[in-house]
Amino acid sequence: MDNQNKIGTILSSSSVIPVVSFDKGDNPVEFVNFLIKQGINCIEVTLRNDFAIEAIRLIKKSLPENFYLGVGTVVNASQVDELKKIGVDFMVSPGSNLELIKIMQQSGIAFLPGVSTPSEIIGAIQLGLTYLKFFPANLFGGINALKTYSSVFPNIIFCPTGGISQMNYIEFLDLPNVISVGGTWIQKKYYKKN
Ligand code: 3PG
Repeated sequence: MDNQNKIGTILSSSSVIPVVSFDKGDNPVEFVNFLIKQGINCIEVTLRNDFAIEAIRLIKKSLPENFYLGVGTVVNASQVDELKKIGVDFMVSPGSNLELIKIMQQSGIAFLPGVSTPSEIIGAIQLGLTYLKFFPANLFGGINALKTYSSVFPNIIFCPTGGISQMNYIEFLDLPNVISVGGTWIQKKYYKKN
């Protein structure tokens, strides 16, 4: 299966992607178990702090079956190398830098690059990509932009993130060109509760 088919398979079985960031002292495995209880089968651990790689390793060690371990905020080649060694299921990048996309393509790991503008979408089409993260959705037109992109780029399928919440995620998922949504609201709610 090529990278695009792989990410398509993951996204089509995961309508909500919890975007998370763990700190030292958090229990990532406990949080994954919480997600499973909620019927969520994937996670995107962002590379935004020093504990991220350790958290990814901890989740990988006790990875439940049929659960996808994703990593977000991937911005350079050495991160891709490290994630390949760990054996994650998918990678997400906030942007669509050409060089980085090529490295991701060669990695064999499913990946989802970020776009926000028509020119970036055209760039992704030129590379043969179909599945794109629309980020930051709230700052680049949200629902209205996605409706416009649906008529301009009918073959492109998006996973919007940025400003998605429990209040509006269904509205995004109802759009024909949205396969899944991502956001931090699930983890924020969890840590408020516990
Ligand atoms: C992401 O990387 O996808 C965003 O940081 C998620 O944005 P949110 O915090 O508005 O959900």
